[in-house]
Amino acid sequence: DWSMAGYREQAIREIREKVGDGRVICALSGGVDSSVAALLIHEAIGDRLNCILVDHGLMRKNEAAEVVAMFHDHYNLNLKLVDASDRFILALEGEADPEVKRKTIGRLFIDVFEEEAKAIGGADFLAQGTLYPDVIESVSFTGGPSVTIKSHHNVGGLPERMNMQLVEPLRELFKDEVRLLGRELGLPESFIGRHPFPGPGLAIRCPGGVTREKLDILREADAIYLDEIRKAGLYDAIWQAFAVLLPVQTVGVMGDGRTYEYVCALRAVTSVDGMTADFYHYDMDFLGRAATRIINEVRGINRVVYDVTSKPPGTIEWE
Ligand code: XMP
Repeated sequence: DWSMAGYREQAIREIREKVGDGRVICALSGGVDSSVAALLIHEAIGDRLNCILVDHGLMRKNEAAEVVAMFHDHYNLNLKLVDASDRFILALEGEADPEVKRKTIGRLFIDVFEEEAKAIGGADFLAQGTLYPDVIESVSFTGGPSVTIKSHHNVGGLPERMNMQLVEPLRELFKDEVRLLGRELGLPESFIGRHPFPGPGLAIRCPGGVTREKLDILREADAIYLDEIRKAGLYDAIWQAFAVLLPVQTVGVMGDGRTYEYVCALRAVTSVDGMTADFYHYDMDFLGRAATRIINEVRGINRVVYDVTSKPPGTIEWE
């Protein structure tokens, strides 16, 4: 794609101009956005880039290992996996307010990057894969008064004490453009086609207080749901699909016994840029299959419901 080849050249020039002979630390999330940002910056400044993948304990099943393997197999950049899951989960434990959760996660991310920057002898820049919709949705809601819908963990600048500047080479792009750019940079197709995943991860898919136990239940249900979607050949037709663990227990029956366990909500939407979305129209057989597997295979869930809300008025994530 010629326009993306042009964008790549221009972005690399701009990164070189901004960074000079400085050092950049890049917050890799494992998603397409931060991966593309990292590859651009690596092309611009080579080994003066250090990538950090923070395992905040809020990732999907096997995600950290898959991301590390992908980069290891295809690219030659500095990537460090930092296990900070205890810290994040401890800080979130019992917190039910969505904005407090998001801000807590954002603050801890900054703490970890600050420590990692220190560990490599200091960095002048922090790179993020912020997209255009992230920027505008954090600022205001189109057509209305200026209201924050959600604080995106990766928008909003850095604390002054950090003495680091932001590098955000994708700030003007939409998701479909980032995917084109990823292709241009040789990212494997399986990676480019991945559904978006929010920085605050599973924490914002556990309405109510987050606990390690709930995260484990959610992670299993989510993996089964995505497995069924792939098996049905639906993955690429859907913009984003995930499970949500509701803070509600309901009564069920299993064999001769009564159960009293959590409700799992399934979400799937189609969208072009994440700004608006329609709920995905599955056939009921698919939903029945996914629900049966989740209830049979995940201890802690005895009921599954499907979310038929579009955006607006709903948002894609529940928090
Ligand atoms: P909402 O829920 O606002 O989400 O309709 C729109 C898209 O953005 C993703 N999302 C985030 N991505 N950091 C991110 O990197 C965040 O804090 C965040 N919150 C939501 C969401 O998954 C959807 O694709």
